[in-house]
Amino acid sequence: MRKTLLLVLLGCCIAFGLLGCIKSASSPENNQANTPTPPAPANEPAPEPQPASTDELDAKLQDWVNHSPMRLKMHGMWINAGLIVRLGAGVEFIDYSWLEAAAQDIARKAGDFAEMWELIRDANRDMAALARNEEWFDARMASFRVWSYCTDCHAENWSPHTRGFKPETFKTWLENGNAAEDAPTTGIRLTAPPRFLQIMFRMLGNINMGNAAMESHDSAGVLDATKNIHEVVVEQLSFWRTIERHARAIATQAENQRIDGIDAQYAKMTSGCIGCHDKYVADGRTPLNPLPWKYSDD
Ligand code: HEC
Ligand code: HEC
Repeated sequence: MRKTLLLVLLGCCIAFGLLGCIKSASSPENNQANTPTPPAPANEPAPEPQPASTDELDAKLQDWVNHSPMRLKMHGMWINAGLIVRLGAGVEFIDYSWLEAAAQDIARKAGDFAEMWELIRDANRDMAALARNEEWFDARMASFRVWSYCTDCHAENWSPHTRGFKPETFKTWLENGNAAEDAPTTGIRLTAPPRFLQIMFRMLGNINMGNAAMESHDSAGVLDATKNIHEVVVEQLSFWRTIERHARAIATQAENQRIDGIDAQYAKMTSGCIGCHDKYVADGRTPLNPLPWKYSDD
């Protein structure tokens, strides 16, 4: 019985597309998606949780290991960009709540990335100013701060695979009842596109050069290093701020139940995605760049 229901629902999803499915699931009788409907009463008790079989646990942990927060954020933005095109084209009933939410999601993610780069930019700037004044102790502290902001992004966005974790790592943790140090791991395994990694290594090299210059009280050397880091950082920052600004503009239009001008905002927003991908990803993967404003046969 439940299986049939699932099959029917799945059929609906395929027939009407993602959005049709969301709409029919949230408001089956009227088409006013802006009116929340109360949740249906649960008529079956939740099934008792069963301990996972070994195979299930292995599969689950493999999934955890491969999970890349950075790629998932990209996927989310790509899907929501697609929804903006579909809803903003105005050819069907426009669900303004979803239009606004899709744009807000992109704006929020872009804003979070931008904020990380901004912290790095400011600490790097401090380091340059302190070195110029020959305040070596404080300059050294600023350098630590730069690196610790870099690590914040790594902790948030690297997959466990990148960090060298394996399913066996977590199985050992579970068996020991703690995050055992002697659990099997590998070294760091990088998976990001080479050109993106190049700017990472460029920044690391310059942090190291800056630190060495500080040891020998060489202000010019530090300024050279901070300048190189600054270049990388402000470019990343500008991609993300562009995306954030135009995604917010789309969200504001949607909030006012309007779609005029959204096409131009969308073009500017996606120029940020495409600009970074062309320069730092460009490895022919699909899907990558957000969909164009309207499908080509329009
Ligand atoms: C927006 C998030 C983000 C920020 C900010 C960031 N990185 Fe990275 N970094 C990454 C990602 C993603 C990878 C690649 C992970 C992979 O290949 O799976 C990476 C990888 C690296 C690597 C290669 C791995 C290693 O440790 O040898 C280095 C080096 C590195 N980053 C240095 C830096 C430095 C230095 C900074 C700060 C000045 C920095 N990163 C800031 C996201 C970031
Ligand atoms: C500042 C750089 C930058 C910006 C801006 C950016 N991306 Fe990305 N994107 C990347 C990098 C780097 C990767 C590769 C990540 C990896 O494989 O580890 C990527 C990968 C992707 C992927 C493929 C993920 C996969 O699983 O293969 C999609 C889809 C994507 N981005 C969508 C977007 C969208 C949509 C936007 C704009 C709203 C955007 N990106 C903005 C750097 C960026």
